[in-house]
Order: sequence, then structure tokens, then C-alpha cells
Amino acid sequence: MPLKISLSTHDALTLPADVAVIGVSEGASHKAGPIATITKALGPSASRLLKRQEFTGKRDQTVELSTNGALKPSSVVLVGLGTGEPTEAQVRLMAAKAARAALAARATSLVLEVPYTARGAERAAAEGVVLGAYRFTKYLTGDRLPKATLERVTLVTTGRASKEAREAVEVGRQIGEAICIARDLVNEPPNELYPEALAKFCVDMAKERGLKCTVFDKATLSKKGMKLFVAVGQGSAREPKMVHLVYSPEGKKPKKRLVFVGKGLTFDTGGICIKPAAGMEDMKGDMGGAANVIALMAALSVLRPDVEVHGLIGAAENMPDGAAYRPGDIFGSLDGKSVEIINTDAEGRLVLADVLAYGKSLEPDLMVDNATLTGACVVALGPFTNAYFANDDAVADEVRAAARDAGESMWQLPLLDELRDGLKSDWADLKHTADRWGGAITAALFLREFVGSTKWVHMDVAGPSLLHRAQGLHPKGGTGHGVLTFLKLVEAYAAKG
Ligand code: BES
Ligand code: MN
Ligand code: ZN
Repeated sequence: MPLKISLSTHDALTLPADVAVIGVSEGASHKAGPIATITKALGPSASRLLKRQEFTGKRDQTVELSTNGALKPSSVVLVGLGTGEPTEAQVRLMAAKAARAALAARATSLVLEVPYTARGAERAAAEGVVLGAYRFTKYLTGDRLPKATLERVTLVTTGRASKEAREAVEVGRQIGEAICIARDLVNEPPNELYPEALAKFCVDMAKERGLKCTVFDKATLSKKGMKLFVAVGQGSAREPKMVHLVYSPEGKKPKKRLVFVGKGLTFDTGGICIKPAAGMEDMKGDMGGAANVIALMAALSVLRPDVEVHGLIGAAENMPDGAAYRPGDIFGSLDGKSVEIINTDAEGRLVLADVLAYGKSLEPDLMVDNATLTGACVVALGPFTNAYFANDDAVADEVRAAARDAGESMWQLPLLDELRDGLKSDWADLKHTADRWGGAITAALFLREFVGSTKWVHMDVAGPSLLHRAQGLHPKGGTGHGVLTFLKLVEAYAAKG
């Protein structure tokens, strides 16, 4: 059942709820506002608690107070907002944390007072509560199923509950739900989510949301000459599939065209160069890039910006088998270049090479790929940040601005030409892996060989796509990290006109 989110202009402390979350600016007077109301209603014990916990409204400080019936909400959580105007990203994060706290408290209703000064705060708050309330319980049974679930959220605004504000809440709710599609897909087990299942998901979603969707099967990929892509999937009993989704605005012809490419390895064993057993289960999430692109396309069907967007998914399963590709094999590619296979565990860049070459032929103004590509990226930046690479400085600036506005942690890494030598092969035009050092960069350099002069961004999301513990907006497991940035980027291109 979807979360019900409503908007109210009443004082949060007068609304009945299991939990009320209220933001307090740093250094705000305790003689007026929510703290005054609370201490008046709850008596000196509340003042003592605030004092003992040194609650001053510093960012991220929280204090929880039980109201024992003295106020309408059963419990009140005060959250420090720090100083200055909260940004849209901070509002979203606060809302997500409020929803997670409500879930942890087994609350079914939440009242959240939104610091409503930021532009777009209504939408961001709604996005945040949906993201924070997310849980993946599809495969739990009996006692393991959660007994209580968050059903109702009331966002309290100090502004007017205008029609626009209500619409913004509904858009935010739907964007939040779209990002949760990425999380669900990452969390789905690999016996259930194989290339054909991922393709079917896209077909169904496209039908529901008015997108165009074409699926290419193995025979068609072979006929097109996507030999690298097909090679990666040839060891699996499950055929590789490519999905081509298109969003186009109705009415006038859009001035910009964007292509998003997602790595969709529904499982990555490493193939003949098989991975160690420990942690291999996480490779169910090796389609995190594809999941993000699918979530983006779903979100675009809600936002309907004035720009044409293509979503390309390279779906395959990397398995060891008598038919699997091997080190030493040489394959041609859609682009024409021949590639010597070195390590069959570097499969993602092979799939992407062919899908990027296909994307290039759509002649986009910008092409962005998103992939759980290298462990080296996680070594470089840690698990919470993704790396981006760009072959154009102005585009890199656009990505940096989009990530900042979205509040997602991303860091640019360089396309170092010095490392290009590592991809030279004696027997083919290229080999697909270099040595260990700078592994995230050499993977990006390999991809660059297939994009020609197209403006292009590569995002390595190997770290944040699937997390081992909740962090910021993200739950444990699949996160959808990157989708908010993509949306900012698309909106920026729509605004360019
Ligand atoms: N899917 C992995 C990368 C990965 C690692 C994603 C950890 C998420 C978490 C990718 O296909 C891979 O195996 N890369 C190899 C490349 C190497 C063989 C050059 C790696 O990073 O070890
Ligand atoms: Mn691999
Ligand atoms: Zn992989």
C-alpha cells in the first residue's frame, strides 16, 4: 500500500500522531516556538532533558521526548537544523531520517514539520519520507514480516497548503517511489531477476507509464555485431537482452536528446576467472546501473521534462560454463574494434562498450553510463561515493552541480592518458584490462574507446549502489544512488531548451 502523504498548516504539536518530528534552528529561543510549547506542556523534566543532552539545534542533534498525553503526538523528536537556510537536499535527508526513525519506533503515523523556506521543499520532503520508509520485505514470511508499517505522513508547512504545494508533494511521492524501483531491482535475488526478467520488467513498466520499449534478444544482438556483449552472456543458460526505453515529451519536438546506459549484470560470478565465494552474493546487485536508468525513466514519466531521453540496458549473466568466454579470446565489437579478453571478471566494460557504441549512433547531446564497474573505485572513494569521468570539462561541471543540488556524494576522477598504454594488446586492437593500478581509470579509458566524439560521462557506482549499512538517504541493500543527480541533469538540459 502506498504511503499516504498529506499537507497541513496546523501546528505539528496539535496533530495526533505516533511520532512528530520538528526541526529546530541552532540557537533558536527556547522562550517561543516548539520548545516553549513542549516544556510548558511536559514540565521541568523536559527542560532538564534538553539541558542534559545539550540540545542547541546543531545540525543532526536529536532528542526524543515522550509526551505522556500532554500533547497530541505520542512522542516528539526534535532535530537540529544548524544555522542558515536548509537546502532542498537537507530537507530531503531530514525527511528520510524522520521516516526511518518512525519505522524504528514502529509508528504508523508521522507528523513532520518541514523547514519550508527552501524552494522545492515540499517535493523534497515527500521524496525523503518515501525513501526513508522503504523496506524490502518481499521474501520474508511469518514472524519475519514487519508487524507495523508507516501508513500516514503529515507534512506541516508554515506556508500555504496551496494547490501547487499539494501537487509538489504528490510529484515528490512519485519520484521517491520511482527511486525505490531501483532499490527493489537491486535487492531482488538473481534466480528471480535474470536478463529476460529484467527486460520484461521494463516492457511492463513502459506500458504502464507511456514509454517506448524495445527488447533485443541474443540473435538480434549477434546480427547487429554486438559481439562483446554476447560473449559475456554466452556462458549462461539465460540469454542476454538489450532494452531500449524512450521517453519523449508530447507536443513540440524537444531540442535536446540524452542517452543513459546502464550495466545490467543480473549476476556476476566472474566467469572462468571466478570470484572468491566470500561476498559473491552481493553480485546480485551488478545490475545497479541498469536499475538506476530504469528508475530514472520511471521518474521522467512523472516529471515530463521537455527533453528526449533514451534508456539503454545491457542485461546479461556472467557465468563459468563449457560455453563461457575465456581469457585469450578475441572478439570484434559493434564499433568495429577487436578486443582481446584478459580477465573474464571485467565483463561490465565489454557489455557497455557495445551498448555505448549503439547509444552513440542515436547522436545524443550527452551520453551518461552508470555501472557497478570496478572494486578499484570502492578502494579509491569508499562505499558511499561514486566516481564520475567525463570527456568534456563543461559536462563535468554540469554533473558536479547536479550532484551537489541533488545532495548525492560523487567525485570526479581523471581520464589519465598516461594509463592508456596498459590497454595495448599484441594480438588485437585493444585488451580490456590493464594492471591493478588505477583500475577504475583504466576501465573508464577502455569505455572511452567506444564513444567517439560524443559528449560522455561514465559513473562508477560500484560502492554506493548496494550498501552494507544504512547511510544518509539510503537503506541497507539497494539504494538508487545517482537517480536524483540524473534528474537534476535532465532538468538542466530541459532548461537549456
Ligand atoms: N561487478 C564487478 C565490480 C564490483 C566490485 C561491483 C565490487 C560492486 C562491488 C566487476 O565486474 C568486476 O568484477 N571488476 C573487476 C575488474 C578487474 C577484473 C579488472 C574488479 O573490480 O575486480
Ligand atoms: Mn566482474
Ligand atoms: Zn561486474
